[in-house]
Amino acid sequence: MGCEVLCVVGARPNFMKIAPIMAAFAERPIDARLVHTGQHYDASMSDSFFEQLGIPRPHVNLEVGSSTHAVQTADIMRAFEPVLDQESPRAVLVVGDVNSTIACALVAAKKGVPVIHVEAGLRSFDRRMPEEINRVLTDQISDLLFTTERHALDNLVREGIDPARVHFVGNVMIDTLRRNLERAVPAERTLGERPAAGYAVLTLHRPSNVDDPGILAALLDTVTTIAERLPVVFPIHPRTRAAAERFGLGDRLQRPGIRLMPPVGYLEMLGLTRDATLVLTDSGGLQEETTALGVPCITLRENTERPVTMTEGTNTLTGPDPDKILQCFAEVLADGGKRGRIPEFWDGRAAERIAGLLRGWLDA
Ligand code: UD1
Repeated sequence: MGCEVLCVVGARPNFMKIAPIMAAFAERPIDARLVHTGQHYDASMSDSFFEQLGIPRPHVNLEVGSSTHAVQTADIMRAFEPVLDQESPRAVLVVGDVNSTIACALVAAKKGVPVIHVEAGLRSFDRRMPEEINRVLTDQISDLLFTTERHALDNLVREGIDPARVHFVGNVMIDTLRRNLERAVPAERTLGERPAAGYAVLTLHRPSNVDDPGILAALLDTVTTIAERLPVVFPIHPRTRAAAERFGLGDRLQRPGIRLMPPVGYLEMLGLTRDATLVLTDSGGLQEETTALGVPCITLRENTERPVTMTEGTNTLTGPDPDKILQCFAEVLADGGKRGRIPEFWDGRAAERIAGLLRGWLDA
């Protein structure tokens, strides 16, 4: 007899989403098991999140590692199929928009196993972004779709998805943020001392920003200009470090005012973000976390799949354009930047809603 729900994670942004879901399933109870695809494998990109967030040890790790999109996706599919056969769950639950999400959803759907997608319906409308392809396709083959913002339903309905399958539950990543805010490692501990006049946090890893030497060089030059006024703390993604070295841009990471560090754990990052004057990022998750924390966020992308962070939250889109970034930075220095409000249902109870709805669905 298989478990009720086989849950899948693979990459860093998945871990903070699955943590409250596994906890809510244990509470309800729903009999769930966890599969880790191994898309992210460094201790700093994976293990530390399991430890800090108390995520149950994965039942199995597929250990697929890094490769091209095609190879990585195919490797996950090949490795996941026998696990799915063995476990024969009633449903497979996937979160977010990474390659592990679409790979496992596709295997399940082809085998007639219902797919549950948490964080459905987000759209950047930019098909050059690999995550956008993953989102559109995962939603198309999902049976139950849980959304983080109301707007997501319009996107799904436009794509022909039956609204009866869609449930607005709120944001599980914000469940994790609320649950751990008191445990966050204060910035002064991570940095040795807290810069008296404040600091900015920078994260950068989107292929559109880091895989093009011209764009990456211009972004790092803009960050250097910012660092002349406000220290910039930069936990660097392995992809970005590798790209900077490949393009001979390593010296631009060492400039005065830039505090480069390896990827940090969840509780360290939460503390750094909470205490920051400003965040500069191309991450999806940080756009939401800064909104939840009321910290101004400059998003170094032309679009966002999370529009509520702009309409209600603290987020401003600048793309990689130096003039726009510096103008927005000047506004933050002048008046503290954009103030927002907390979006609907970002209240720490999204996973509880998912578990309640899912229990009903499994029992029906
Ligand atoms: C992936 C996700 C992206 C997410 C990001 C968060 C896809 C398509 N992309 O991008 O949506 O925002 O994770 O981090 O799924 N690497 C390591 N150690 C690791 C993992 C990766 O060194 O533990 C390096 C490898 O050189 C690898 C590169 O990072 O080739 C990229 O990793 P990959 O998982 O392919 O994509 P990310 O850029 O991390």
